[in-house]
Amino acid sequence: MSILVTGAGGQLGRELAQRLPAAEAVCLPRAALDLADASIVRATLARLRPQVVINAAAYTAVDRAETERDLAFAANAEAPGVLARACAEAGAALLHVSTDYVFNGQSPHPWREDDPTGPINVYGASKLAGEQAIRSALPRHIIVRTAWVFGAHGANFVRTVLRLARERGALRIVADQTGSPTWAGHLAETLIHLARRIASGETLAWEIYHYAGAPASSWHAFAEAIVREAHAQGLLPAAVPVEPIASAAYPTPARRPAWSVLDGTRMAETFGLAPPDWRIGLAQTLAACKAETP
Ligand SMILES: NC(=O)c1ccc[n+]([C@@H]2O[C@H](COP(=O)([O-])OP(=O)(O)OC[C@H]3O[C@@H](n4cnc5c(N)ncnc54)[C@H](OP(=O)(O)O)[C@@H]3O)[C@@H](O)[C@H]2O)c1
Repeated sequence: MSILVTGAGGQLGRELAQRLPAAEAVCLPRAALDLADASIVRATLARLRPQVVINAAAYTAVDRAETERDLAFAANAEAPGVLARACAEAGAALLHVSTDYVFNGQSPHPWREDDPTGPINVYGASKLAGEQAIRSALPRHIIVRTAWVFGAHGANFVRTVLRLARERGALRIVADQTGSPTWAGHLAETLIHLARRIASGETLAWEIYHYAGAPASSWHAFAEAIVREAHAQGLLPAAVPVEPIASAAYPTPARRPAWSVLDGTRMAETFGLAPPDWRIGLAQTLAACKAETP
């Protein structure tokens, strides 16, 4: 066993667990390893002695975070710090996942790793604090910022659009926020690739990297693609119309960045991992949803 996955019950965590053989990794959901408990985290790492920890645990309820600030900071800022300190004690490297929402959404180009951060919601602020906590506790870490994650498990945009398209004759989706949809399967494969390189003794460039899907898309264009693909796969009897609307017509508790596209050049040049095509992940996700449909 060389890899420990935390948050293994979540959307990304389940994709990681599916791909990692038991001989190589221990994948622990929150019930088995709660990162809020520092002594259990330390004891678990001391017992398992992983070479690499992949942290897939987080508080991801972006809107609820506006009123649950303490919970968001506990999971996204304090827990990564606890984990990083435990990794330092146990001699493990840490692969941590962060978000496009550390940026303010105002940029003339896709966001690069060294662009100034400036979160505009509590979730983004808590994730940024988590990055900082890791940086100050553990030199051997990689932070992978990703965006708009979807997959066959958990609450995500693809599953929500599919449900709403089945319930309603038409959808209204915001068209003035642009980002990088990312299949959790692609993200899991990339994290495993990096973890295996670390576990084999390679010294990687310990940096922040952006890894998210391409091409860039608005939520509206993403929803249209979901409806089209779901219809093509027989999950919808008809491709329901998707009306573009402005964010102002769909107020949410948390503000969201208008421009959230991540530049994946550093990841591609350093590790040969180019931004993956999210449309491939979408087809796989909907095929998995279809297989689950009774
Ligand atoms: N989803 C997105 O669109 C998106 C976008 C950009 C970045 N990210 C980042 O990608 C990563 C994976 O996100 P995801 O979509 O897989 O999220 P997710 O489905 O919400 O999974 C997160 C998991 O972490 C667990 N967790 C929360 N607090 C914990 C704690 N104290 N100890 C242990 N586990 C804890 C949650 O358990 P409970 O369910 O029991 O709370 C859940 O199983 C996160 O770092 C997230 O910030 C996600």
